[in-house]
Amino acid sequence: MPDSPDDDAPALRLPYDVGVLADAPLRTERLVLRPLEASDAPDVWEYQRLPEVLRYIPWPRRSREEGFLHTVKRSGLRRLARDGDAVIVAMELVGERSISIWGDRVVGDVMLRVSSAEHAQLEIGWVLHPAFQGRGLAAEAAGAVLGYAFDVLRPHRVQAILDARNTASARLCERLGMRREATILEEEYHDGAWEDTAVYGILAREWAARG
Ligand SMILES: CC(C)(COP(=O)(O)OP(=O)(O)OC[C@H]1O[C@@H](n2cnc3c(N)ncnc32)[C@H](O)[C@@H]1OP(=O)(O)O)[C@@H](O)C(=O)NCCC(=O)NCCS
Repeated sequence: MPDSPDDDAPALRLPYDVGVLADAPLRTERLVLRPLEASDAPDVWEYQRLPEVLRYIPWPRRSREEGFLHTVKRSGLRRLARDGDAVIVAMELVGERSISIWGDRVVGDVMLRVSSAEHAQLEIGWVLHPAFQGRGLAAEAAGAVLGYAFDVLRPHRVQAILDARNTASARLCERLGMRREATILEEEYHDGAWEDTAVYGILAREWAARG
């Protein structure tokens, strides 16, 4: 029994600094997951510039220089402390040579964002270079980051918010055990058309029950 009602209150373990993953990256069968760095810009550019990647994520078309600056900016997102704060975890594919001079290649990234510190809600998002899709790499990365987030940040619920037409992303949500909770009709207006949004979610107890 809790001593007071507040003992049961939701609480994200904040602040959180993604730098801990630079010292101790997450390792999966094929990937090393560590904070995105400014020096990853050439690898990120390889997927950031592709129209099929931009189709369902709210990134504008950028020049190479703008793309590099965007990666510098995203690599500076290091700390979760309040609503809206995000961190970016790079997916380094072991044995795949980086576009830059040395190291393994960053083929995608996973974002974690605080949706509500008060209600212990996080958001997860992902992007993977199309040449590396269809191998389960996004699921491997997102699953590891989700498990880590539940362990370390203690969210009550994690959500993913997607363009409802993004069936690849929806399948990934379902592969992770997330449930489709809502379809918001005509939430955004892009390129002359109203687009629906899908919301997926998973509760901490549901994640724990996956074993
Ligand atoms: C969403 C996205 C990350 C999904 O990538 P993905 O590679 O399809 O995702 P997964 O890692 O789950 O791989 C699943 C596919 O690999 C196949 N696969 C092959 N080997 C596998 C393995 N060992 N384990 C699991 N799946 C494997 C699966 O059968 C599945 O194929 P299917 O979707 O045709 O059924 C990718 O489409 C993407 O980056 N899109 C552009 C950016 C974007 O839209 N981001 C989301 C914004 S909300």
